[in-house]
Amino acid sequence: MSDPLLALAGLHVRFPTRRGDVRAVDGIDLTLHAGETVGLVGESGCGKSAAVRAILRLHPERTTRYAGAIRFDGANLLDADEAGIRRIRGQEIAMIFQDPMTSLNPVMTIGDQIGEGLAAHEKLSRADRRKRVLELLTLVGIPSPQTRVDAFPHQFSGGMRQRVVIAIALACNPRVVLADEITTALDVTLQAQILELLRALSARLGMATLMISHDLGVVAGMTSRVYVMYGGRIVETAATDELFEHPAMPYTWGLLRSAPNLEKPDALRLTPIPGLPPDLLAPPAGCRFAARCPFARPICTAREPGLAAPAGRPPAHLARCWGTQDVADGGWLIGHDWQSAAAEEAAP
Ligand SMILES: Nc1ncnc2c1ncn2[C@@H]1O[C@H](COP(=O)(O)OP(=O)(O)OP(=O)(O)O)[C@@H](O)[C@H]1O
Ligand SMILES: [Mg+2]
Repeated sequence: MSDPLLALAGLHVRFPTRRGDVRAVDGIDLTLHAGETVGLVGESGCGKSAAVRAILRLHPERTTRYAGAIRFDGANLLDADEAGIRRIRGQEIAMIFQDPMTSLNPVMTIGDQIGEGLAAHEKLSRADRRKRVLELLTLVGIPSPQTRVDAFPHQFSGGMRQRVVIAIALACNPRVVLADEITTALDVTLQAQILELLRALSARLGMATLMISHDLGVVAGMTSRVYVMYGGRIVETAATDELFEHPAMPYTWGLLRSAPNLEKPDALRLTPIPGLPPDLLAPPAGCRFAARCPFARPICTAREPGLAAPAGRPPAHLARCWGTQDVADGGWLIGHDWQSAAAEEAAP
């Protein structure tokens, strides 16, 4: 495979507080290749937003500590100066934010907001800029763009606003799009439409897309690879089909059981994972999921496992779980099928 376009290598993001450092991202590796759509999933608070916001250095510089590297196009973005980062933002790497209402300016027309990004990065005449704004509105599926272009955000529905936010992100033909929980505020039907739009646009424009979600169901149909994050760490990664068919870590089993099915919204069968995620001020010494894992053994709380291919699985599938590793004291979950394991767990 070619070199990745974007690579997080041993990335740490820490927020110093009076009670100590919040270790929101604790040494993660993640790669994104040109044209690829990759998922980053995990429960609320596991560090997903902290990691992706670090890519564009959106955290307040004074109250954030970074370590490791964010490689893009041969440079480490953590070393870039303010001007360098400003050039990357929007033009090379664009972010679509979680909440379309707060990321749009309520007193500016939709057309002006899309045009603003164009004006900052591309030298276009007024007429050409307007033409490009209309093209972008058409591209994201806004009906009658000629009349909608001069409307304000409150005149748009939630789904239409999310399309506008996508148009703003696409304005400068970015090479990478970071999409952080972009469908969380939408109902299931609109979610599916927006995801399909983003999938089609990524394929058509050849962008690399990182889809962030707390919901495995959202990334299922969209991505070719998935990273699962827990307590500031990557705990499992694999090709999407492999992850869904052979999830290795009991945490991933739990996420799969709690994922709503977007194709069959009526078939919601949500089983939340009991217990709470670890305290990121003082993460536990062993596996970070051990306290909530029904299959944990003493080794799990004593030592943290590394990321390794679960026995019998392809080398690109990595999991941070002693139960799946063929080493001394490990391996009790090898060949265990998660659905029967779930039944076993539910049995009295
Ligand atoms: N500026 C900050 N100062 C202190 N702690 C922070 C700060 N920003 C985030 N955190 C903490 O870092 C951890 C990770 O937060 P993050 O927002 O990355 O979670 P997330 O995975 O994106 O969750 P969600 O699904 O709810 O968006 C949380 O414990 C959060 O409280
Ligand atoms: Mg978040």
